[in-house]
Amino acid sequence: MKKAFVVGHPIKHSRSPLIHGHWLKQYGIEGSYERIDVAPADFGEFLKTFPERGFVGGNVTIPHKEAACLGVDRRTKRAERLGAVNTLWREDGLIWGDNTDVLGFMAHLDRSLGQGWEEAVDTALIVGAGGAARAIVAGLQDRGIPRLLVINRTLPKAEELVRDLRDDGPSSLQALPWGDIDAALATAGLVVNTTSLGMAGQPPLDLDLGISPDGAVVADIVYVPLRTPLLAAAEARGLRTVDGLGMLLHQAVPGFARWFGVTPEVTPELRALIVADLEGRS
Ligand code: ATR
Repeated sequence: MKKAFVVGHPIKHSRSPLIHGHWLKQYGIEGSYERIDVAPADFGEFLKTFPERGFVGGNVTIPHKEAACLGVDRRTKRAERLGAVNTLWREDGLIWGDNTDVLGFMAHLDRSLGQGWEEAVDTALIVGAGGAARAIVAGLQDRGIPRLLVINRTLPKAEELVRDLRDDGPSSLQALPWGDIDAALATAGLVVNTTSLGMAGQPPLDLDLGISPDGAVVADIVYVPLRTPLLAAAEARGLRTVDGLGMLLHQAVPGFARWFGVTPEVTPELRALIVADLEGRS
């Protein structure tokens, strides 16, 4: 029986066990996927010893993604570029790390908007400059979106992101101060919220979507609630919206495939299961 985990601190709210548990059952695989709470001081030891504890691999979440990237024996180019690892496995006696957030976000956009959506987008506005913003910028660079604008409350963090990623693709990548948000919105065919604004208990991300171009897409990575105030405002304005749950579901695919040997599908049933859990119905 193959065992996998998700490690974080705190970890009890992670939905990953529900996702992987659903797939294990669906594909009739004898395996397990469990939450493990590991404090930062103990993470290095956990990383080195998970194979001895009988695990084939697992996911890494807050606050260990950067430590995992530094601590693995080998990392993929993607993980190296982002400085963060969210998926671990063992190969030829070595501990490997990858970052599947990029694939997760892009797969969800493709599913939601249809292949080729990027051809209609000249400028994307990324709000926020944390780890999630880095993954999303990397994904949009790979698709060759001509112009990427990163806006953040703390401008130096957006500038640092731009310095780290600007040579990684053909897109022009620019950091903007928060005060430029309206000018940026007026040109952006895709707007992505990567901040925690809009999450339950947080103030909303209040954008003047009246100035967005018609046909723009608004995406949020927040998924509690699923319909954030930003997405509700975008719908009211007649814009297309992409919610945050798909990224969570799709980022789980490569890890499951590696640990359990089957590439799983993100189905409406899986989505409904997680939505029911988020809404406290299961
Ligand atoms: P993650 O790695 O999940 O992206 P993070 O590194 O903590 O998380 O980044 C959170 C992002 O949300 C940051 O861009 C942060 O802005 P700052 O760099 O200025 O802190 C943004 N954020 C969080 N609360 C915010 C708020 N009240 N207003 C504006 N931005 C906020």
